[in-house]
Formats: sequence, C-alpha cells, structure tokens
Amino acid sequence: MARITASVYTSHVPAIGAALDLGKTQEPYWQPVFKGYEFSKQWMRDNRPDVIFLVYNDHATAFSLDLLPTFAIGTATSYEPADEGWGPRPVPVVQGHAELAAHIAQSVIQQDFDLTIVNKMDVDHGLTVPLSLMCGQPTPSDYRWPCPVVPFAVNVVQYPVPSGRRCFHLGQAIRKAVESFDADLKVQIWGTGGMSHQLQGPRAGLINKAFDNQFLDRLIDDPEGLSNMPHIDYVREAGSEGIELVMWLIARGAMADVAGGAKPKVVHRFYHVPASNTAVGHLILENS
Ligand code: DHB
Ligand code: FE
Repeated sequence: MARITASVYTSHVPAIGAALDLGKTQEPYWQPVFKGYEFSKQWMRDNRPDVIFLVYNDHATAFSLDLLPTFAIGTATSYEPADEGWGPRPVPVVQGHAELAAHIAQSVIQQDFDLTIVNKMDVDHGLTVPLSLMCGQPTPSDYRWPCPVVPFAVNVVQYPVPSGRRCFHLGQAIRKAVESFDADLKVQIWGTGGMSHQLQGPRAGLINKAFDNQFLDRLIDDPEGLSNMPHIDYVREAGSEGIELVMWLIARGAMADVAGGAKPKVVHRFYHVPASNTAVGHLILENS
C-alpha cells in the first residue's frame, strides 16, 4: 500500500523563484535564505519520494474571481508552469500522477470533503517555488523534477476561506486515501505558503517572528490545538496573507501521530527574515 513518509512545510515567496532563475542565490541578501534549504535538498536526494502531494494556493492564476474552488485536486498527467506576468518560470513541466490523484479524489469525496476535480491547469509560484527550494534547479542534462506531483489547491485568496480545523480534518482524510491506494508508493505531503506576511495596505510588510515561531512549535507539538485558531488570529498576528498558513495544517493532519501513531521526528527547522516583504519558514517532519 502507499504510505506517507514525511511532511514538508515551506513558504513560497515568488521573489525566491526570481532569485533562483536570475542566478542571484549567492548575493548577500539571498544567501542566508538558500542556506536554510541546503539540508533539505540533500534530504530530498536521500529520501526521494515516489510522489509529492503538494498543498498550495493559486494566486488568481489558474483560477480567478470567476471561478474559485475551495479545495481542488489536480488529476491531470502534467501541469505547465504559469505565466504570472513575466513569462513562465524556466522550470520543467510538472508531471502529475493521475491514478493516485483520481483515487484520492474518490476516497476523500467519499469521506465527505467536496473536492473540485481539475483536469487542466497551469501552476504558479505557489507550487513551483517550493519545488525549486526543495529540489534545486534541474540541470539541462536532467531537466525534470525528481518525481510526479499531485497538486492540491486551496482557496486562501478570497473569503470565505476554509478554517484551520477543516484543513486539519482534510489532512486526516488524505492520509486514509493514500493508505488505501494499492501500490507500494512513498508519498510526501507538503504544506506551503506563509509565514507572516501582509502585502498591501497600511500594515504592508508586517512580520511577526514571535507568532511564526510559536506556530512552528505548535504545528510540531499541538497541531490539533493549533487547528482551532480562528482566521482573525492569523490575520491580526500574521498579516492578511499569513492566512496561507492554514494549508500547513492539511499536511500536518496527514501525519501518523494524528491517527494514533508515533510522533513525527523533526529533521529540519529553519526561519529567516526577510525575503521580499515576508518571513520564510520551513520544517521537515518524518514519520517513523
Ligand atoms: C509575495 C507573494 C506571495 O504569494 C507570497 O506568499 C509571499 C510574498 C510577494 O509578492 O512578495
Ligand atoms: Fe502566496
């Protein structure tokens, strides 16, 4: 059977993608950001999954106010990097895993979560920047991501957005779905976006290090309690775009301890300010 081996959490700041694509990673401003992912890239090489279930948010790229699903699962065989206004990022096409995605859709919908099925979409920085951070830039001689990806898009752009509690429960349903897939696959689940940031208005540039670090502590040790935090606390403490952090609870809800298993091992933790107008947070948790 398939199983969830680990969960990864990371911010997805688009300027990080631009720094990578424009060869600026060694500049003094960016060097400390990328240093925090050196461990992660080696860990990915040492713990290569068969599939990544990548929870992210679209930024009015594939979806718009015309049509905005709360939870959307990608069941396509591939996804093109999106043009977000400066041309598509120069990164490989993302290969999907249509069979696993269709199985998860079936199982999770039967567990009473109403997912939208997406058979065609482009993926924006919300998905490609985490892949770049964790996998590095694919070289011309091996121009592909290390494994297929199932994209799972969450609406955190236009209210009403889902609660942390709903996300945490959804993660539990995803774990059951993965574990009922009849193939011996190692699946990582990634929760992306965050940490504290506010991109507009009088509070633009808001960073709350104390909140972010407490969020990381509680995500590790008290995810259920954390899942009860209301939206207003995210927005007040972490800024309007800090609400992206609810997606981390989907990945955390899929870990074994939530279903009565052993606590995950914290293999890596990183936090850095600034990156563009935001904080960067990153965690890797392994199931034993
Ligand atoms: C920015 C955009 C994002 O989507 C995000 O999550 C963080 C930062 C930005 O434009 O800087
Ligand atoms: Fe974002």
